[in-house]
Amino acid sequence: MTEPIVVDFNKPIVVGRELEYMAEAIGFGKISGDGPFTKKAAGLLEEQLGVPRVLLTTSCTHALEMFALLLDIQPGDEVIIPSFTFVSTVNAFVLRGAKPVFADVRPDTLNLDESKLEALITPRTKAIIPVHYGGIGCEMDAILEIAGRHAVPVVEDNAHGLFGKYKGKYLGTFGALAAQSFHETKNFSCGEGGALLINDPKYVERAEIIREKGTNRSRFFRGQVDKYTWVDVGSSYLPSDILAAYLLGQLEQRKKIQSLRRKVWDFYDTALKDWALAHEVQLPHVPAHVEQAYHMFYMLLPTLELRQGLITHLHARGIISVFHYLPLHLSDMGLRFGGQPGDCPVTERVSDQLVRLPFHNALTESEQKKVVDAIREFDF
Ligand SMILES: Cc1ncc(COP(=O)(O)O)c(C=O)c1O
Repeated sequence: MTEPIVVDFNKPIVVGRELEYMAEAIGFGKISGDGPFTKKAAGLLEEQLGVPRVLLTTSCTHALEMFALLLDIQPGDEVIIPSFTFVSTVNAFVLRGAKPVFADVRPDTLNLDESKLEALITPRTKAIIPVHYGGIGCEMDAILEIAGRHAVPVVEDNAHGLFGKYKGKYLGTFGALAAQSFHETKNFSCGEGGALLINDPKYVERAEIIREKGTNRSRFFRGQVDKYTWVDVGSSYLPSDILAAYLLGQLEQRKKIQSLRRKVWDFYDTALKDWALAHEVQLPHVPAHVEQAYHMFYMLLPTLELRQGLITHLHARGIISVFHYLPLHLSDMGLRFGGQPGDCPVTERVSDQLVRLPFHNALTESEQKKVVDAIREFDF
């Protein structure tokens, strides 16, 4: 028998004018891509982040695929990616024939370990893709310095990190390009969605073309050409304006959402600190120069057995916790690219130890208390 769910892992909720905006988009009669709500949502991000151009996409995965097309990744090119990340970070490049070179992560933040980066660069390296894990910024100064010395572009997978900062500057504004996710598990969501942040203006024109099936349709609508036609490779990466309307409603509530999530994060951190210390459990580390995005709360249990035990213990009390990521270099695909056990020891260890606690915009303090009480009952 399955237990009734007492505290769910994720629960997407309406926080502002999402439904009103969706109705308005439908009433307006232009529900395909690049309608008024797409422009408003992208404009909000451009203004808030100070990014020259933001293009909404159908997912973060698709924004990452656009990276690979914009960087002209060719078969045999190498891209450096943390092994501890979601499959889309790597798959977007492998789709173009790239060979992934997996980097290990730092044991404190679980972000790409900048001290291991330079040794992985070869003359075939065409991109470095840091992932701001959990919305906690990577060591961007060191990463950009190394990449700059080797003239390799840095492109950020910022799926978790919207509105987080590193040394006072927004995550997603460091690389030539950055990718955001608006999947239902993220702080801001429209179910499925994403954005491409273009920090280097040289990519703007081609990005518009790639996103519009390889046509110069955007230039046509701006009156810059008198007909639109097929000019490059591309695909269909633009979301419906109905989704953009939902997203705008969420983004407008960014202060409320981030302050709700900060409360959730701080509650777990404070309530679990002494238990964690007594049980050699590692809680997330936020360096002093980083303002995190409050995307998730995870714990590293001492062993795989204890991690699995805790998930089962919580599940028996109706509390849903989850683990991720399996090391990419040891996945079926990773092995095909020559991955070996021991290549990324920190990734291999934390992948066994990590558990994510329920975390969403509707989580109440009483639900959080249930989670904390249940964890405290898990004695070992
Ligand atoms: C680090 C990272 N990159 C990319 C993605 C893909 O995002 P999407 O579902 O919007 O394609 C995810 C999804 O959770 C992710 O965690």
